Amino acid sequence: MGTRQRVLAPWAVLLLALQVAGASHVIHRSLEAEAAPPSVPASIVSPLLRTGYHFQPPMNWINDPNAPMYYKGWYHLFYQYNPKGAVWGNIVWAHSVSRDLINWIALDPAIYPSIPSDQYGCWSGSATMLKDGTPAILYTGINRPDINYQVQVLAFPKNASDPLLREWEKPAAYNPVATPVGGINATQFRDPTTAWYADGHWRMLVGSVRDTRGMALVYRSRDFRTWRKAKHPLHSALTGMWECPDFFPVSGPALEDGLDTSDAGAKYVLKSSLDLTRYDYYTIGSYDKRKDRYYPDNPNGDYHRLRYDYGNFYASKTFYDPAKRRRVLLGWANESDSVPDDKAKGWAGIHAIPRKIWLDPSGKQLLQWPIEEVEKLRGKPVSVGSKLVKPGEHFEVTGVATYQADVEVTFEISSLEKAEAFDPAYDNDAQKLCGVKGADVKGGVGPFGLWVLASADLQEKTAVLFRVFKDGYGKPKVLMCTDPTKSSLSPDLYKPTFAGFVDTDISSGKIALRSLIDRSVVESFGAGGKTCILSRVYPSIAIGKDAHLYVFNNGEVDVKVSSLTAWEMKKPLMNGA
Ligand code: FRU
Repeated sequence: MGTRQRVLAPWAVLLLALQVAGASHVIHRSLEAEAAPPSVPASIVSPLLRTGYHFQPPMNWINDPNAPMYYKGWYHLFYQYNPKGAVWGNIVWAHSVSRDLINWIALDPAIYPSIPSDQYGCWSGSATMLKDGTPAILYTGINRPDINYQVQVLAFPKNASDPLLREWEKPAAYNPVATPVGGINATQFRDPTTAWYADGHWRMLVGSVRDTRGMALVYRSRDFRTWRKAKHPLHSALTGMWECPDFFPVSGPALEDGLDTSDAGAKYVLKSSLDLTRYDYYTIGSYDKRKDRYYPDNPNGDYHRLRYDYGNFYASKTFYDPAKRRRVLLGWANESDSVPDDKAKGWAGIHAIPRKIWLDPSGKQLLQWPIEEVEKLRGKPVSVGSKLVKPGEHFEVTGVATYQADVEVTFEISSLEKAEAFDPAYDNDAQKLCGVKGADVKGGVGPFGLWVLASADLQEKTAVLFRVFKDGYGKPKVLMCTDPTKSSLSPDLYKPTFAGFVDTDISSGKIALRSLIDRSVVESFGAGGKTCILSRVYPSIAIGKDAHLYVFNNGEVDVKVSSLTAWEMKKPLMNGA
């Protein structure tokens, strides 16, 4: 059972105790938007903290992105949604369409309980383009009221000539297409992937667990209607339940072109969302289509060290965008304030900015970058030329409002000599390291970076930083971190520090950072998208025009900002909100 990725506050312990088997969302039996308790501080629920350009509906709870696809000139995004409140429950597939993945128009929910197989919930799933160009959706239906008994359901558009794909039908003749027979745990059997075609068969994966072994079960079909489970899973590991598996080919190291899921790839990516940690982990490897087996390149990969995002980012899904020949990643970022706060706000959950993803030249990890369309939202810019930041100093970036901004900066370090020794005890735990050595702990090379959503008196600030260590062989080791411990004066907020190592060659002394700031979101991309961290923060004074942006250096060596541009970001069409 997952813990919603937090060190548990007492209220969370209580809520966790109320969780029931199945997905680890807290279930609220009333399933209604309850009134805010009077004790909620006004600042946390300030409407000015609602995000401006991240995907969200006008109100209520959202979680996973479902079945993203491009169809007849429109991008479609479905998502897990509670139409009745700002807590998880009553799950249907809300539906939005877009021309650019940035401006969104809300349509009516597309998939909702309507057949025996899904009468108690329509959980996550994916879209597949069939050979004749018709999209099909596979998703998980809940068919019992007492336990979250899971089956897989197939839906087709009622009218494939409608580019908006408003109505979907679930033919009784072959639904459900998969049931938890043969020893499969019926409450841990969900989230079918996009299917792919090879050697005369379609294949799809379904996430599951046997004892503590998480796995991606393989199902095969000739006609997409009758599915049979393969003997072996595609892959498995001792990690606990795999939610929302994703499996896709990548074209080759440094080739940015995406591939359709049925194309043969130079390499493959297998992602699982671990219910136990509530993070998305992936490995890169090869796929044997004859055996339907996947082999990670790095045998240690199964310990799942690589993450799409080292922050608040879960249950993600990719899709192939034929219009721009790229693979796009969408993920869910939960709130990190409390459930009473969510109820008071009347909304909870956003999606990360869509990211293009491709294989790094090293072949060892993916690179991610906000899709280029997000740049259409850039408004007034301000640039800082070359500027030195001496140890212990900081400067403010003025001239634009930065509560809703896109910031790109390149830092140059004068020397790596003073880098602190790296303690190998933290080898696999960047987050812990940054918990110990946060933004205010003076270092050798760094910490340096941005203070975003900062108050004028710097009482409130969220640091996005780098800190460079030296390992036992004298090799630099770069830590990237978002430290929100000072992000709000509000004492009760959950303010987790997030961090990842950056596998970058810093011998030139240069490292780049891009941060998408959006009122209560800080979504950062280190070293051109090698390490990404999304954090939710809820300032109590650094709100709206009172939010400032600074560059700081808390190390012992000079850091030069060789270039910095900050753009105000416009608000796109966001589902009518
Ligand atoms: C992931 C998840 C999925 C499930 C859905 C239910 O967040 O638990 O496994 O299908 O959410 O809303």
